[in-house]
Amino acid sequence: MIKQIRIIGIGMGDPRHLTGEAVEALRTVDVFLVADKGKRSADLVAARQAICAAAIPTERSYRFVEVTDPQRGPDAERSPAAYGQGVRDWHAARVDAYADVIAGLAPHEETVGFLVWGDPAFYDSTIRIVDALRDRIDVDHDVVPGISAPQLLAARHRVPLNRIGASIHVTTGRRLVEEYDPSLGDVVVMLDGHLACRGLADRYPEVELLWGAYLGSPDELLVRGPLATVIDEVARVRAAAREQHGWVMDTYLLRQPG
Ligand SMILES: C[S@@+](CC[C@H](N)C(=O)[O-])C[C@H]1O[C@@H](n2cnc3c(N)ncnc32)[C@H](O)[C@@H]1O
Repeated sequence: MIKQIRIIGIGMGDPRHLTGEAVEALRTVDVFLVADKGKRSADLVAARQAICAAAIPTERSYRFVEVTDPQRGPDAERSPAAYGQGVRDWHAARVDAYADVIAGLAPHEETVGFLVWGDPAFYDSTIRIVDALRDRIDVDHDVVPGISAPQLLAARHRVPLNRIGASIHVTTGRRLVEEYDPSLGDVVVMLDGHLACRGLADRYPEVELLWGAYLGSPDELLVRGPLATVIDEVARVRAAAREQHGWVMDTYLLRQPG
């Protein structure tokens, strides 16, 4: 019967990103729950299995359970309110699916793990989903941090994310153009399927763009330069990489020059 849920940040897919605390936590898990997201699912599950194989001694037994992810409608044509409601409905359906799997665990399966890409604190719903599960099931839980995309982006470009004493604003591609203002300080953009920063290039041509894709993998790509100067190069590199891999994950920093 379940006693504990562990939400473990695993970094960007390289086992060397695991913290010592994450390694210890992985070694206590009996059942890892992984969302089955259809087409890309095999890659996502394989990446997580490789991390566990690297971190968990072979004599320790554990298993993976793939939980079919509920269908999520198209986000692009939704208003912000409809988008928020769509995500909440999707989370509720996920909670139902996880609760069903947990109800069917064997008596000796006491510790359930969720392996979160990067860090659970950055644009990830696992903590919210586990909170909702805990409204239904009496179970302890903890959260183990991991290395996130913004941290890796900063490390690869060898910069801090902020200017001295200034703010860092983290946002999504969806919100960027509407809310961008130099007074925000340095701006980190995630979840941007369309390089929204292009929409700022006329107004802020000198803003520096520090872009990174597939961070932490052997396919890592980095581009840096003034926004108006490098945006076409980034778009070209990004499109070619997407064509080659079938998907792309990128994060970037916009910083004021000087
Ligand atoms: C759902 S969020 C998950 C973020 C994750 N929890 C973290 O701590 O970085 C997905 C976004 O993270 C960023 N991301 C994830 N993996 C990445 C990678 N390997 N390289 C660059 N960006 C990545 C992208 O902006 C992507 O759209």
